[in-house]
Amino acid sequence: GDVIRVLGIETSCDETAASVVALDDASAPPRILSNVILSQVEEHAAFGGVVPEIAARAHVEALDGIIEAALADSGVTLAEVDAVAATAGPGLVGGLIVGLMTAKAIAAAANKPLIAVNHLEGHALTARLTDGLAFPYLLLLVSGGHTQIVRVAGVGDYRRWATTIDDALGEAFDKVAKMLALPYPGGPNVEKAAANGNPSRFAFPRPMKGSAQPDFSFSGLKTAVRQAATAIAPLSDQDVADICASFQAAVADALADRVARALHRFRADYPGKAEPALVVAGGVAANRAIRETLERLCAEKGFRFVAPPHSLCTDNAAMIAWAGIERLNAGKADIDAFDFAPRSRW
Ligand code: KG4
Ligand code: ZN
Repeated sequence: GDVIRVLGIETSCDETAASVVALDDASAPPRILSNVILSQVEEHAAFGGVVPEIAARAHVEALDGIIEAALADSGVTLAEVDAVAATAGPGLVGGLIVGLMTAKAIAAAANKPLIAVNHLEGHALTARLTDGLAFPYLLLLVSGGHTQIVRVAGVGDYRRWATTIDDALGEAFDKVAKMLALPYPGGPNVEKAAANGNPSRFAFPRPMKGSAQPDFSFSGLKTAVRQAATAIAPLSDQDVADICASFQAAVADALADRVARALHRFRADYPGKAEPALVVAGGVAANRAIRETLERLCAEKGFRFVAPPHSLCTDNAAMIAWAGIERLNAGKADIDAFDFAPRSRW
């Protein structure tokens, strides 16, 4: 068939991103022609978290230039693009409005179809862009905003098997970092501190471990960390390292328990499937301790462990462009969605 090229736009949180992805034909791997990301981490660092108003303004200021750069890097002109795909939700509504309105304007002016993409669908389909993974597979999405296990059975065929009943895992990392006066974003700094710590000094709870309910919970663990930190304050560097290492060990343990349940359920649903796969995505998937625990679990249970490269696991526009291509191929693109409104809680 013909080559498909899609321009993707992502503005749902604190990254302003644009990308062009091409699929030459169904038998060749897709190609990321450009992938431009501007992180707003510096703008939000002083506040210890993403400030929606600041994020929206930063998207307005940066997006035109980011899209221009993505087109220039790709060597593809707007006229050669087959569709414009933009994240329409879930996320911060200010950013979603900026990205979706910009995509609509570009699509209308260039007479191209518009594809309104669910951000989570972008994460869910990334392993097909990076690893050519076939359906069905299991996805563990662990980011600042999401903590979910999803069964991905086809384009548009997603079943959420588990979610968090309180904090997202990345949020828990960020809050623990804040308690310990580690800089934002917390996750990578907690991991760094944990490298010199003793993971068994504190016996933190393993939330939901052994529970028949499939979901996650992290607020109890967070509270236990706060109590431990308060009890021994002022904290030495070694105390901080030990708390981080013990927290990380509790998280890895709790995650492994939840994921093991999902692997069993997947096995039961697809008994004859050769080489079932678990995909991990989201910023927290960068954590080495968590990754190694899940890798070991997968090896034990006969699952293939798929971890797309970090830059495509965290928020980016290549995954949005790719979701657009997948939906065009599946005949599921909303090609006249000019009245599509942003859905912050989609
Ligand atoms: O996927 P992501 O970049 O953005 C969204 O939230 O959508 O994830 C960011 C989250 C933050 O909470 C950050 O602290 C966490 O991922 N994170 C980590 C690590 N790197 C990033 N958490 C634990 N260990 C890490 N190495
Ligand atoms: Zn995300």
